Amino acid sequence: MADPIVIAEDLHKSFGDTHALRGLDLRVPAGSVCGVLGPNGAGKTTAVRILATLSDPDSGHARIAGFDVTRDADKVRARIGLAGQHAAVDEKLTGRSNLRMFGRLYHLPRAQARRRADELLERFGLMDAADRPVGGYSGGMRRRLDVVASLILRPQVLFLDEPTTGLDPRSRGEIWDSIRELVADGTTVLLTTQYLDEADQLADDIAVVDHGRVVATGTPDELKATIGDRLDVEVEDPSSLQAAATVMSGLAGADPAMTAADRLSVALPGAGTRLADIVLELDRAGVSMADVSLRRPTLDEVFLRLTGREKETV
Ligand SMILES: Nc1ncnc2c1ncn2[C@@H]1O[C@H](COP(=O)(O)OP(=O)(O)OP(=O)(O)O)[C@@H](O)[C@H]1O
Ligand SMILES: [Mg+2]
Repeated sequence: MADPIVIAEDLHKSFGDTHALRGLDLRVPAGSVCGVLGPNGAGKTTAVRILATLSDPDSGHARIAGFDVTRDADKVRARIGLAGQHAAVDEKLTGRSNLRMFGRLYHLPRAQARRRADELLERFGLMDAADRPVGGYSGGMRRRLDVVASLILRPQVLFLDEPTTGLDPRSRGEIWDSIRELVADGTTVLLTTQYLDEADQLADDIAVVDHGRVVATGTPDELKATIGDRLDVEVEDPSSLQAAATVMSGLAGADPAMTAADRLSVALPGAGTRLADIVLELDRAGVSMADVSLRRPTLDEVFLRLTGREKETV
């Protein structure tokens, strides 16, 4: 099998006393979408900046398409695009001028910069707004222009740092469509996000980052499978809560979380416990049940579990 196009090995980076990265490893196969998921301050932007040659690691290595991000930074830059967490476009310029300007910054000859700008505006549905100043664009259009600006040089690998943060659902959907188009063209995408549904929608593989390290990797389905099925119990009468909690913690080996005044929820250690057996056991314990359900966890629950932010108390 070919080497992954993005490889990070044991990256460390500190800012004073803050250890932003503490041994981050990542491998992204060519042509895939890798979702880097993590809470605020996890180290996502720090990792992206190192991979995109904007910052050097204190130790560890990273390679893009076989080129070392510190030793061969120029070769890496020729192969990547980056849309950072904060918009890079100029509000006073029109969409078209912004893209031409980026083309010139990347040393494209003037005519080629014009042609590429028009091509991208057309392709990503921004032609109607091309001659309006970006200051008047909606948040979604502005973000789309940002993503588009990172495509000027037809990058092999595209880094998108929280491409849809703060956007409404429709604008998010539009950015997702743009990303899918790029992937269909063969671009490898590494995107950071705090939205689990975004990773679920777009990513072939997810790397969950916490405290500067990857704490779990896998496809969305694999990650969901790692924490087993979720058992939700709704009681008819709150006086049954304690008895239900006892049965549930016996099954799960952990205390259930109270998700409403009459609802408890817990992750079971694996898939395979039968719903009928659970109901039987709750019944024997005298629990008056309003509803009992067994389901795959959401990616949210996986994430909260993996990053240790889940409260499991009654
Ligand atoms: N230039 C810097 N100077 C000092 N500290 C920094 C710098 N850049 C990042 N940090 C710190 O490093 C840690 C990781 O930050 P980073 O921006 O990589 O997180 P993130 O996962 O991108 O978070 P967010 O989801 O909020 O964007 C944080 O504690 C942050 O405060
Ligand atoms: Mg960030």
